[in-house]
This record gives sequence, structure tokens and C-alpha cells, in this order.
Amino acid sequence: MLAIIGGTGLNDFQQGATVGERLTPYGETSAAIIQTQLNGRDVVFLARHGSPHRIPPHKVNYRANLWALKQLGVDRVLAVNAVGGIHPSMPAGAIVIPDQLVDYSYDREHTFFDGVAIGDQAAALEHVDFSYPYSASLRQALLSAAEHIGLAVSDKAVYAVTQGPRLETAAEINRLERDGCDIVGMTAMPEAVLARELGIDYASICLVVNPAAGRSSTLITMDDIHRVIASGMGR
Ligand code: HPA
Repeated sequence: MLAIIGGTGLNDFQQGATVGERLTPYGETSAAIIQTQLNGRDVVFLARHGSPHRIPPHKVNYRANLWALKQLGVDRVLAVNAVGGIHPSMPAGAIVIPDQLVDYSYDREHTFFDGVAIGDQAAALEHVDFSYPYSASLRQALLSAAEHIGLAVSDKAVYAVTQGPRLETAAEINRLERDGCDIVGMTAMPEAVLARELGIDYASICLVVNPAAGRSSTLITMDDIHRVIASGMGR
């Protein structure tokens, strides 16, 4: 079963019946999970920020979201993320399939392996391999699909995950660039590692919705971001 986790601008993606349980041992999911069809295929959809959009990135219950999807038999997740562009080849409107990330977030419930027993499941401690945070096969499927429909995408990028909800300073963006990051957003982690801990294949489609701080001659406004989302999320 494939799940889509929709980000900012993709919270009312599809109508459909709700499935599964919102309440998990880790608390409630961001929204009801919707069973729907995409091009004749069954998929489930979950709005990361709630529906309507109300949960900021640092308060998303990532563990509940991934846990509930796993209970439904989900084995692949396509995440959609709105991000800022750092690399000059990733301007507003660009679609990016990241292959790496650097996690700068903090104070988030970021693991299922924290030594606490859940129900009759013994407390587990495992150190998952996370060398390559995104699933190679799912990334390849996305890149092939983009090529098939003639959609230009950036096929490699390092995603910097910041805590938010504020945007970065220009100096912070310069530092992220020195760290090798190409795009910056607030929601790739701990989502990606929680999927890994549950054995779920995970890949992300990022829409660049603004030039990162200090990378354009104007300040970043929500109006500008919403304009890019309106024209870009459909693609
Ligand atoms: N920084 C961090 N997160 C974001 C941005 C940004 O510039 N744009 C959209 N999400």
C-alpha cells in the first residue's frame, strides 16, 4: 500500500472514506487518513499539518502519523514538502527529489526506539542504518515518472531540516550552504527516520516555494509563497 503525506499546500488533496485509527500509542495523527484512488490505484492520504492546515512543523505528531500508516499495511510513503531554495539551480517553482538530508531540528519525538514499551511490545533498542535516508527504488520511480510526463525535476539535493516555525536568517542559510545543503524545509525529519525505523520505503517530492533567506532582493512573504504553491502543487 502506498501512502502520500501531503505538506503545506496539499492538505485537501482528495476526498474519500476515512480508514484506520487516528488514536495510536503515540497520540493522535494529524488528520484522518483518507482512502482514495490516484490514476486507478489505491492510495491513502494523510495531511501532515491537519485538515484544515493548523499544526506547525515542530508540533506534528510524526510518530502517530507513521505508526497509523504502518497499521494500515503501508509499505511505501511519498512525502510532499514545501521548501526554500538555496542552490541557484533550485529557484521558486522548481520540483526537487532530494537524495540526502541534514537534520538541524530539535526537541521533536524522533524515534520509536526510546526504551519505552508500547502495549505488549517489549521496549526495543535499535540503531537503524540511515546512510541513505531516501529509498533508492522509490526515488527512481519518481524520476522515471517525471521523465515519462516530461516534468523537469532536480534529481539530487541535500535537504536541510530546520526547526521553525520561523524562517532562517541569511547567515544561517550561508552556513547551510557551506554544509552542503541545497534546499531547506522543516518537515523531512523525523518523518524520514521514523519511516525507516518501521521498515517503510520513503521518498520526497519537494516544491521550492521561495528563495531561501538572503537569496533574493526582497524579503520572504507568505503571499509570495502561497502564489508559488497555487501554481506548483498541481504539477
Ligand atoms: N525555510 C524553511 N522552511 C521552508 C522554507 C524556508 O525558506 N520555505 C518553505 N519551507
